[in-house]
Amino acid sequence: GFKSFCITKTFSLSVGNAQGFKKIYLKGGIKMNYKIAVVAGDGIGPEVMEQNILVLNEIGKKFGHTFEYTHVLGGGCAIDKYGEPLPQETIDICKASDSVLLGAVGGWQWDNLPGDKRPERALLGLRGALGLYANLRPATLHDALKDACPLKPELVADGVDIMVVRELTGGMYFGEKGRKQTDMGEAAYDVEQYSEKEVERITRKAFEIARKRKKHVTNVDKQNVLESSRLWRKVVEEVAKDYPEVTLEHMLVDNCAMQLVKDPAQFDVVLTENMFGDILSDEASMVTGSIGMLASASLNDTKFGLYEPSGGSAPDIAGKGIANPIATILSAAMMLRFSFDLDKEADAIENAVAAVLKDGYRTIDIMSEGKEQIGTAQMGDKICEYIK
Ligand code: IPM
Ligand code: MN
Repeated sequence: GFKSFCITKTFSLSVGNAQGFKKIYLKGGIKMNYKIAVVAGDGIGPEVMEQNILVLNEIGKKFGHTFEYTHVLGGGCAIDKYGEPLPQETIDICKASDSVLLGAVGGWQWDNLPGDKRPERALLGLRGALGLYANLRPATLHDALKDACPLKPELVADGVDIMVVRELTGGMYFGEKGRKQTDMGEAAYDVEQYSEKEVERITRKAFEIARKRKKHVTNVDKQNVLESSRLWRKVVEEVAKDYPEVTLEHMLVDNCAMQLVKDPAQFDVVLTENMFGDILSDEASMVTGSIGMLASASLNDTKFGLYEPSGGSAPDIAGKGIANPIATILSAAMMLRFSFDLDKEADAIENAVAAVLKDGYRTIDIMSEGKEQIGTAQMGDKICEYIK
């Protein structure tokens, strides 16, 4: 079974029959066998990942693919076993895979460790080592979940469908940091720095995505104060010239925080730097009912990607079987779509999630009156059932 997480282990699961493989192979020359590195991590990570794998296997069965999972350690569980959050072996196995699925990292046990020894280093280290500079976080309000949205119904009557495109390997997350003595006592700093090339590549991603959506990009920065934002905005304007069919709008980050709860329907693609994107994507997720719904893809310039829910490890509810696995499962759908070009398969997951919600099944975080509350495993089961 998939019960023993936090150990390095390879599972190989063959599904479908040889004939089926051959047929599809001849049809489109589509790759049938995918190697996936799994970093289940800490807290609710392993529980939601278990459901995620069951759902992926159901997809494999239905469409005739083989997903081969290699479980690797990252985060707090790696600290406990190896004394470091991101063992080299984990990086190597992720690099050798077609994609990475990540659950969540972190927890109170490791909260007092120094910055470079914390579980979060696993995530930041992987993003850096794999060059995953583009983080896509779709915040979509499901029709069925309008009740779970904390905003007044009239504000979301026309629906919400935002794609946050967050730069993920620059800014103050990765800038120079340190401590120094000043006449005001010890001081600490994290440098916010962006180069033209870094801004250009994330901007191109945002515009390319906007092209396939409502063709509207809101660039979010703080150019009235920050020099890095002034360079950022200049580059965005340059790149925008290559996409005349896409409308570009600029918004200061404080205003954006306000607009997201005042009129979320105005947004299509939101382009922003690392730290602003971290904060705004959490805010956008609440508009959709719960952070337990928010998937995320982290991409580089190849087909490779790391897919994870935007939420954290939620140690307060870990092990209780009540966590919402949907964000993780929708992240796997993003993997099928972006990394493997398996659109039909991704649709099947997304449609199953929508149908389960429509039929009134809810985990506790999105529960509302008159609905049926179910746990993590039951939610996974239901989604598998609907895929079948
Ligand atoms: C996220 C998380 C991470 C981040 C943490 C865990 C390092 O909050 O993916 O949004 O800040 O990027
Ligand atoms: Mn975050």
